[in-house]
Amino acid sequence: MILEARNIYKHYENGTRRLEVLRDVSLSVSQGEIAAIVGPSGAGKSTLLHILGGLDRPARGNIFFEGRPLGEASDAQLSSLRNEHIGFVFQFYHLMPEFSVLENVLMPAIIRGKRETADARQRAMELLSSIGLEKRLNHLPSQLSGGEKQRVAVARALINRPKLLLCDEPTGNLDSENGAQICNLLKKLNREKEMAIVMVTHNLDVAALASKRYNMFDGKLNH
Ligand SMILES: Nc1ncnc2c1ncn2[C@@H]1O[C@H](COP(=O)(O)OP(=O)(O)O)[C@@H](O)[C@H]1O
Ligand SMILES: [Mg+2]
Repeated sequence: MILEARNIYKHYENGTRRLEVLRDVSLSVSQGEIAAIVGPSGAGKSTLLHILGGLDRPARGNIFFEGRPLGEASDAQLSSLRNEHIGFVFQFYHLMPEFSVLENVLMPAIIRGKRETADARQRAMELLSSIGLEKRLNHLPSQLSGGEKQRVAVARALINRPKLLLCDEPTGNLDSENGAQICNLLKKLNREKEMAIVMVTHNLDVAALASKRYNMFDGKLNH
């Protein structure tokens, strides 16, 4: 098992009001598996994905990454776990605007190795060629289309060869043709690299890739 979430609870407090966002959520993902989470806006999907990837901590319950409980990890241990083993792809790309395409893709490798290596640069260029962006290496994110930005975000997520890819509405901001490209890319990655993928999506073609499909509603996950 790559990832297991056991009895996760999360709430937010706004003044005197307490908002229960995740209520007893459990799920598991094994190597090479794709799990899709669908559900209306506000259901708690992004909150869950952040907790699964160690970007946020649950109020109760625990996440196990390859059997190791994240609840016992320090913030520094969580960031290195994310950097080395987990790739994130967000709906709005989250590229760094002042850095080039190549630099954006290289960033997690630089953070991991504390410096840029020739190997990482080579791999970044290979990843970008494999998704048809070899002529965009020196472009800034603002000079790219939405579909291109998302492909850069996927390349960045892959640079450190993660075991798990977490995608939050990866095609949510794309037209159907670009959405289909991202969909094919995810399928290929899953098949070739045996990478586990958990994705939140409203796109039925993307959800159809999944071997497990969960519905999320009002903080609860239905299996
Ligand atoms: N930092 C926060 N503080 C307070 N409430 C939040 C915060 N983040 C999210 N929420 C609320 O939690 C609920 C779930 O949000 P989210 O996980 O983003 O849902 P989804 O991704 O399914 O649309 C929403 O009602 C949202 O308004
Ligand atoms: Mg969301």
